[in-house]
Amino acid sequence: MRIPRRKGGAAGVALGMPSRRAQIAAVFALAVLLGVSVLYDSAHIAASLRRHSGYTRLSATREEAAAGAPPARGVESAEESTDRSDPPPQQGQGQGKEEEASSTRARADTSTPETGVVKEVAAEGAHGNASCDVYKGRWVYDDKNAPLYKESDCEFLTEQVTCMRNGRRDDEYQKWRWQPDECDLPKFEAKLLLEKLRNKRMMFVGDSLNRNQWESMVCLVQSEVPWDKKKLVKNGSLNVFRLEEYNATIEFYWAPFLVESNSDDPDIHSITDRMIMPTSITKHAANWIGVDYLIFNTYIWWMNTPKMKIVHDGSFASKPVKYDEMDRVVAYRQILKTWSGWVEEHVDPRRTMVLFMSVSPVHMQSEGWGSPNNIKCFSETQPAINYTKELELGTDWDLFSASHGFTKAMKKVPVHFINITALSEIRKDAHTSVHTLRQGKLLTKEQQANPRKFADCIHWCLPGLPDTWNEFIYGHIVSSPLQQQIEDQSQR
Ligand SMILES: *[C@@H]1O[C@H](CO)[C@@H](O)[C@H](O)[C@H]1NC(C)=O
Ligand SMILES: *[C@@H]1O[C@H](CO)[C@@H](O)[C@H](O)[C@H]1NC(C)=O
Ligand SMILES: *[C@@H]1O[C@H](CO)[C@@H](O)[C@H](O)[C@H]1NC(C)=O
Ligand SMILES: *[C@@H]1O[C@H](CO)[C@@H](O)[C@H](O)[C@H]1NC(C)=O
Ligand SMILES: *[C@@H]1O[C@H](CO)[C@@H](O)[C@H](O)[C@H]1NC(C)=O
Repeated sequence: MRIPRRKGGAAGVALGMPSRRAQIAAVFALAVLLGVSVLYDSAHIAASLRRHSGYTRLSATREEAAAGAPPARGVESAEESTDRSDPPPQQGQGQGKEEEASSTRARADTSTPETGVVKEVAAEGAHGNASCDVYKGRWVYDDKNAPLYKESDCEFLTEQVTCMRNGRRDDEYQKWRWQPDECDLPKFEAKLLLEKLRNKRMMFVGDSLNRNQWESMVCLVQSEVPWDKKKLVKNGSLNVFRLEEYNATIEFYWAPFLVESNSDDPDIHSITDRMIMPTSITKHAANWIGVDYLIFNTYIWWMNTPKMKIVHDGSFASKPVKYDEMDRVVAYRQILKTWSGWVEEHVDPRRTMVLFMSVSPVHMQSEGWGSPNNIKCFSETQPAINYTKELELGTDWDLFSASHGFTKAMKKVPVHFINITALSEIRKDAHTSVHTLRQGKLLTKEQQANPRKFADCIHWCLPGLPDTWNEFIYGHIVSSPLQQQIEDQSQR
């Protein structure tokens, strides 16, 4: 598999120049720290940037940095600003009585048979071209076909993502469609997807980016169902959107590291000293058993520091907590090992489809797309489609490669790797920026006027980019011969 790598490999820097290397590593650590911290003091950032003029060249040296960087001091979570106490608008109590749904299934068949299930099943185009790589393509401005729903039509969107309602003036970010080079994406048909989901559960598992995507999925299908036949219930780590007529659920489960961590509280998780237990997954995974479509991600929570704190035994509660520190990518591989082991052991591939979302990029370093005078993603209204150089956003491609490698190596349970990273890097225009929440409250005018400190260039407006991610998921689901076969069997 070809893994995207930036040009100008870092070998020359790495060999025989330890001091230079250490220096770069330190700067990288700082960049990462600056990059993902929306709360970090702006004067501090400016001062740091002045001190480290080598800043823009960092991404060429990311491997060395990951290996040699000193642990960065704790900063406030990137998520803190947006990620706490923002419950969905509709909260109910208890679960609705499950409808005795008759399973008359639509026989709409857009699939093409494929051999070898372990092979990456490319989400096929409408023409059923299995050899088409849907992730290779371009963004096309197309206000006839995008967005797939209106912000004002989806009551389930949280304030975190309703950028227009929160005062964003331009809406062109909603109007870009992803066009694969060699085929078309299948047209998103909510009804067809809901038929696939009949009597089934779909669950997004991971961090707030996966929650962002879950909200998108809810909005993509919800208009097919009358208002009194759908319900969103939030209970601890689990958010459940239930579609009564279909006896289907679309769920989100909060587990930002997939394994157990000290950030597992769905509401109060903005912890500067993040720690994980890399082999403990059962507590979370108990909630994933029996789900028909499992969609995982984990990335942004790894990006605060180049080292991860590892707790081997005991609990996070006992003070002081005993921990080791480990390079982030090493720890990331450990949790992927734990995760893939759990999936191979507990998931029945004849019943459950597993998907893994690749890294969702951030847009914190406007030098990275050739606009050094801009402030992060603030004021960006167009995707970087005309930028001819490689985008330099500080994406940790080692984590990307690790998740790609692990998912591809899984034998018993095929995992669909949803390769959104490069195509999302282009979308500097699509973040919530200052049109979002901080600690559960909309940014004030004063805060909006201070994008250096308050712009969120991690999460995405809805409607918007995550809708495209879900179009890929849709493609995998409607074109999967596996799922078709299961349905055929269950109909007998
Ligand atoms: C919330 O979840 C817990 C266990 O996860 C369960 O015992 C409880 O009944 C649920 N509450 C509601 C209101 O569904
Ligand atoms: C992911 O997609 C990009 C294009 O969007 C491509 O350049 C890259 O090779 C793909 N990576 C993998 C692992 O499929
Ligand atoms: C399928 O994609 C391949 C690779 O791009 C292309 O050569 C071929 O013509 C396509 N076939 C159809 C039926 O579209
Ligand atoms: C409703 O869906 C659940 C799975 O989410 C399934 O276990 C149950 O059998 C379904 N009910 C009916 C009546 O089909
Ligand atoms: C890209 O360049 C073309 C040609 O100069 C221009 O018409 C278009 O508006 C540009 N698009 C963006 C998104 O910058």
